[in-house]
Amino acid sequence: MNRFTIIILTAIASVIWSVAPSYGSPVSIRFSHVVSEDTPKGRAAKMFAKLANERLKGKVRVTVYPDSQLYDDEKAMHALISGNLEMAAPSTAKFTELIPEFQLFDLPFLFKNRMVLYSAIDGNVGKRIFGFLESKGLAGLSMWDNGFKQLSNNRNEIRLPKDAAGLAFRIMPSDVIKAQFEYIGAKTKEFPFSFVRFALETGAVDGQENTWSNMYSKDFHKIQKHITASDHGYLGYVVVMNAKFWKSLPKDTRAELKKILKDVTLWLRRHAFQINHEAKSKIMAAGTTHVTELSPEEIEVWRKTYKPFYNKFKDIVGSENLFEVFRLNSKR
Ligand code: LMR
Repeated sequence: MNRFTIIILTAIASVIWSVAPSYGSPVSIRFSHVVSEDTPKGRAAKMFAKLANERLKGKVRVTVYPDSQLYDDEKAMHALISGNLEMAAPSTAKFTELIPEFQLFDLPFLFKNRMVLYSAIDGNVGKRIFGFLESKGLAGLSMWDNGFKQLSNNRNEIRLPKDAAGLAFRIMPSDVIKAQFEYIGAKTKEFPFSFVRFALETGAVDGQENTWSNMYSKDFHKIQKHITASDHGYLGYVVVMNAKFWKSLPKDTRAELKKILKDVTLWLRRHAFQINHEAKSKIMAAGTTHVTELSPEEIEVWRKTYKPFYNKFKDIVGSENLFEVFRLNSKR
């Protein structure tokens, strides 16, 4: 082999080497969550993975781990921050310690309707609160719906706040949710979602709060005597990636992932409430629990009970955020 051939071969080799990464193995994105696949978040995560794996074939490979298979709530948060997990969508309550302002979404009966909720998320409120994520090592990508929470328990029917007095409820790690129960004389215990069924079965707690789809997918209706259709609080998810990981992705990959997330978020806004409605119908058809529907007067008692409560949390959730929601409520 003469010198010229060696130079040509070396040049060809270096060109191949320089383009090699694009033919290398795709970047792995592990998406961990704690609920069943047949829930709003479970379906959205699957849809996100499917679209990303199709549209970014060879560039990324998204694998979804549902049902706390990889991490449960608190562990997922730590893994995300430390870079041991790429992606998750924990509920707002699970950000309490990190970014207390997210508890705005946990305040009972705060949002007059879903339109107000979406205006807050898409407007200044969302911008302000999502703005805190970066300094915590997280890239905030979207907010996903589940729906409104209901109250279940094994002791007595709950129609009015006073009926919950003395009962023990499992809660997510949110000071607002803790206060929401304590304010009406109930007790609370905090533990991960993966433990709730066991805690209800063993009587470690009397009840819990969750959406119809989360309850149906975990058979809570088979082990809880009463469910009150209270719609008392919103359950939504903050879709996040580890910030360093997110920034390490090529610009065009990030742009495509953002586009996919936007589509999935809109799909959820159209379907999440329907999925919950169907889960409610299935729970009622199963006939294993007593479902209590509240009259407008009873709902008004609940709303009035929690009115002074907002002031208590205004500095924590950000008074500008709270007043913005009040303003949006008054317009709708
Ligand atoms: C919970 O009760 O912890 C849940 O609402 C979990 C979830 O991600 O929906």
